Amino acid sequence: MNANIILLPGDGIGPEVVMETVCVLETLASRHGHHFHFEKRLIGGCAIDECGVALAEETLADCKKSDAVLLGAVGGPKWDNPSAAVRPEQGLLALRKGLGVYANLRPVKVHPCLVDASPLKAEKLVGVDLVVVRELTGGLYFGKPQGRSMVNGHERAVDTLEYQDFEIQRVIKTAFDLAKGRRKKVTSVDKANVLESSRLWRKIANEVHQDYPEVALEHMLVDTASMRLVTTPANFDVIVTENMFGDILTDEASVLAGSMGMLPSASLGAPGSPGLYEPIHGSAPDIAGKGVANPLGTILSAALMLRYSLHLDAEAAILEAAVSRSIDSGRVTADLGGSLSTRQAADEVIRNLE
Ligand code: IPM
Ligand code: MG
Repeated sequence: MNANIILLPGDGIGPEVVMETVCVLETLASRHGHHFHFEKRLIGGCAIDECGVALAEETLADCKKSDAVLLGAVGGPKWDNPSAAVRPEQGLLALRKGLGVYANLRPVKVHPCLVDASPLKAEKLVGVDLVVVRELTGGLYFGKPQGRSMVNGHERAVDTLEYQDFEIQRVIKTAFDLAKGRRKKVTSVDKANVLESSRLWRKIANEVHQDYPEVALEHMLVDTASMRLVTTPANFDVIVTENMFGDILTDEASVLAGSMGMLPSASLGAPGSPGLYEPIHGSAPDIAGKGVANPLGTILSAALMLRYSLHLDAEAAILEAAVSRSIDSGRVTADLGGSLSTRQAADEVIRNLE
């Protein structure tokens, strides 16, 4: 098949991990008779430096026309001034909103060889295989009003946690559809004992559940969920939750997998629209430019891209198996206890491709 893929390497370690992933994808494509056409564009801090905005309108338009978008990371100390008018993260939020990718899938699996890379006791990690479905285009990240003002001589800041029923419905549906092909359990995470938006969330989760009698639904408060993620993580199958809860819980969940550098993500919208694929780690400015970042989270994100946007299920499985074999061999980057560079770790995956 032919596919047009937009690359948004972004900032920090983003360019390093994305370019190595492209090498892996090119090898895979040529072996299986596919042609992937890659085009690189700017997002985040580098886009601010180059054109004054974190995501140019033409870049968003090109992404919308593509088959899929592969992104590295945005942000870094250079653009960290909290009072700056333009910030790198705005580019990422505008991209998610602009592409309409409302469901962010973050799978967490524990590879047996990486059990020791996690600070959790090995016995807690047995059988961990969960997916967090994070709502990505609503909630606290996008609610209006948002901003600062002076009230009676005091500085005031406001963010708004707002959801409409259809925004909740579609992401809960994604979670149930996913659970149908897995262990058939959905945990809907909210804060319904305090938040009105969570009470609507819970009501809609119950309604959508009616259409999926074969899938079990449990509700869990977000504070409880954050505890259960480290005490009994293997009990989760599919977790579905509000944007910011999902942001927080997935950093926590990455600890199960041994390194943040391992976790991929897929952001999906309406069927047929381009998906956005990115590792969940950030730009890691402390190691940027050193060539030591773990490329596996991005390579696994590319595998999700093959599966969900390009419908190349067999190739996705081959790529995931190659990553798994690389981990088996211990030929990995320093965050996983190895000593390979980013390039060498990606080469190892290429060597392990069938
Ligand atoms: C993530 C990141 C982003 C988010 C930041 C960079 C805006 O933390 O993808 O989890 O909060 O969504
Ligand atoms: Mg995050």
